[in-house]
Amino acid sequence: MSSYSKPNNGEEQLVCVTGAGGFIGSWVVKELLLRGYRVRGTARDPADSKNAHLLALEGARERLTLCRANVLDYESLRAAFSGCHGVFHVASPVSNDPELVPVAVEGTRNVINAAADEGARRVVFTSSYGAVHMDPNRSPDAALDETCWSDYEFCKRTDNLYCCAKMMAEITATEEAAARGLQLAVVVPCMTMGPMLQQTLNFSSNHVARYLMGTKRTYPNAVAAYVDVRDVARAHVLAYERPDARGRYLCIGTVLHRAQLIAMLRELFPQYPRHGQV
Ligand SMILES: NC(=O)c1ccc[n+]([C@@H]2O[C@H](COP(=O)([O-])OP(=O)(O)OC[C@H]3O[C@@H](n4cnc5c(N)ncnc54)[C@H](OP(=O)(O)O)[C@@H]3O)[C@@H](O)[C@H]2O)c1
Repeated sequence: MSSYSKPNNGEEQLVCVTGAGGFIGSWVVKELLLRGYRVRGTARDPADSKNAHLLALEGARERLTLCRANVLDYESLRAAFSGCHGVFHVASPVSNDPELVPVAVEGTRNVINAAADEGARRVVFTSSYGAVHMDPNRSPDAALDETCWSDYEFCKRTDNLYCCAKMMAEITATEEAAARGLQLAVVVPCMTMGPMLQQTLNFSSNHVARYLMGTKRTYPNAVAAYVDVRDVARAHVLAYERPDARGRYLCIGTVLHRAQLIAMLRELFPQYPRHGQV
């Protein structure tokens, strides 16, 4: 994705990013700060040292505040969104734990309604490719686009509850936003890679780390879609800034067979001894 110029709307718009300290959230915050926004970032515990990297970002001292919010706590969300023009709803459990599915879905319902109650104009919701590609009945040759959805029952049967959660959360975001008259754009990243701003290892970075460290010794005979986290962050901001942006935007950099990914890792990081075998 190419770079673009700063907004010239003459004001420093206030926007909120939920899950600001996570892998993608941190890059969205960084991108917004670089583009001149005032940013309020939410975390369940802003004082936790795992969020310290945010305060060191360029522009953070002048234009970033962190506030405590849990997506299941409606009043904490209202306080976080107060005075905001827009909300980037990035926070979500990234897990197949059945107990966390309602957190993703009800959390999203709360975010959309709290944003509407606080007078925000636009919401950008972070969905997932897991809500799009998991359909065993689709031909492997079929081109995927924004009309595609995963097969919910298949995801449930195969314990891909994260995909179930993201499907239900995205549908909830779309329905609630329509009911409340909020503009909604949905960014749909695939497996997201790239430099981490945070200190803790998130799920998709661990996908790479497991091959590098040799904790995952085999890999499936399959392809997967990958995207750079910096492009994902820019896609969020573009989806926010384009007034006509509505609905879903798939965010995919490349599609690789796992053997190609392993070969790339071997070339890029020869100092790591193990990269898996088919
Ligand atoms: N990385 C990928 O490959 C990928 C691909 C597609 C879509 N996505 C989506 O991108 C988003 C961010 O994922 P990520 O990879 O950046 O994961 P991450 O680093 O684990 O970040 C997840 C964030 O969600 C927040 N969170 C979790 N439960 C919460 C709750 N109950 N209330 C408030 N915040 C909560 C966490 O905040 P605290 O723990 O600090 O409170 C954390 O900042 C998610 O919506 C995920 O589904 C990720």
